[in-house]
Amino acid sequence: MSLIREKQKLRSFNTFGIEASCDFFTEINSIDEFKTLVNTETYKNNAKLIIGGGSNLLFTKDFSGLVIKNNLKGLEIVSEDAETATVKVGAGEVWHDFVMWCIDKNFCGLENLSLIPGCVGASPMQNIGAYGVEIKEVFKELEAYDMVTAEKRIFTKEECHFGYRESVFKREYKDKYLIASVEYVLTKNPKVNVSYGAITSELEAAGVKFPTIKDVSEAVIRIRKSKLPDPAETGNAGSFFKNPEISKEKHDQLKRDFPEIVSYPLPSGNFKLAAGWLIEQCGLKGHEHKGAAVHTKQALVLINKDHATGKAVFELSGYVMQKVFDKFGVTLEREVNII
Ligand code: FAD
Ligand code: EPU
Repeated sequence: MSLIREKQKLRSFNTFGIEASCDFFTEINSIDEFKTLVNTETYKNNAKLIIGGGSNLLFTKDFSGLVIKNNLKGLEIVSEDAETATVKVGAGEVWHDFVMWCIDKNFCGLENLSLIPGCVGASPMQNIGAYGVEIKEVFKELEAYDMVTAEKRIFTKEECHFGYRESVFKREYKDKYLIASVEYVLTKNPKVNVSYGAITSELEAAGVKFPTIKDVSEAVIRIRKSKLPDPAETGNAGSFFKNPEISKEKHDQLKRDFPEIVSYPLPSGNFKLAAGWLIEQCGLKGHEHKGAAVHTKQALVLINKDHATGKAVFELSGYVMQKVFDKFGVTLEREVNII
């Protein structure tokens, strides 16, 4: 097991670049190391926080407890037939590297999720999604370890209760399991998904008529680079809020008052609103608060513009929520995990 260090600074472990620290910090490179860790007094006597790439976290204060950086690696094809390949990938693998590996093998299913920061372990926790695809569509199962007993448990897709940026690991099993590896079932006869408008226009602009999964991945990467800030340059955690779901009645009322509103019908009859549009209409693009700001190219993203504290980012998020509520009567929900 790696050493347990005391008073670790966490700035380089969160993409917001927030200056926070934790009482104890360690890294795990194998399940055996995790099992050894579970028996230590430091582990038993402290609150725990598992992190991967730290790209969906906001530290609003120092963490009183033990931060565990998950470095469990591994990438293997566990079974294969003419149509599909089942791939098992370690939670500590970098998500985008895994997506690139799939594209290289011509395994289809994850190309729309190119360039999402972070590690594989958080992908089912968040049910990450982008450009018309969520991981639940190709997820098979995951291997997890009980945070108290270190006992192994397999979670099937049904047991994960995936929803929009939701899973059982954000709700009843929050902080109860270490996710160690994930299995995805990918298609070997590629059928690309270009349903998301921005991809279609990006491919058209590039003159691509019959896109391969590599073309789709490259289009997604170009779109993302054009509007999302690169955490290496500007601290952020992607979309700070979820796109809210509202009833048809509420949608009809908003449509009357704001004919330009950006919304998408859902199979349930409800509607999803583009939260970025709501925030932009409140005149908040570029709005600053104590070094935190609303991103000018994408209002759903809050950034650490100039040495902001996590508390300042959190306060800004509260201000945005209040403004959106006052103008539209819609309550935004934070998507980022607040620590
Ligand atoms: P972390 O931030 O380290 O952790 C996130 C949560 O998962 C925490 O609660 C943590 O405790 C828990 N966790 C992490 N690993 C484990 C594990 N092994 N076992 C148990 N719990 C664990 N997300 C999208 O869905 N779509 C996007 O398009 C998207 N775009 C983004 C763009 C940018 C520029 C940024 C900065 C973020 C974006 N995100 C997006 C959010 C983020 O990349 C994802 O949520 C990602 O999956 C987080 O991975 P991570 O390893 O950094 O998780
Ligand atoms: N819009 C505006 N102004 C803005 C931002 C957006 O008007 O400042 C409107 C535009 O009309 C645009 C629409 O909102 O067409 C949707 O914007 P975009 O395509 O950028 O997507 P999003 O809804 O803002 C969601 C995800 C992203 C994901 C993209 C692409 C959530 C919370 N966010 O953003 O995920 O990459 O779609 O699929 O669902 C993340 O989770 O961190 C994340 C970045």
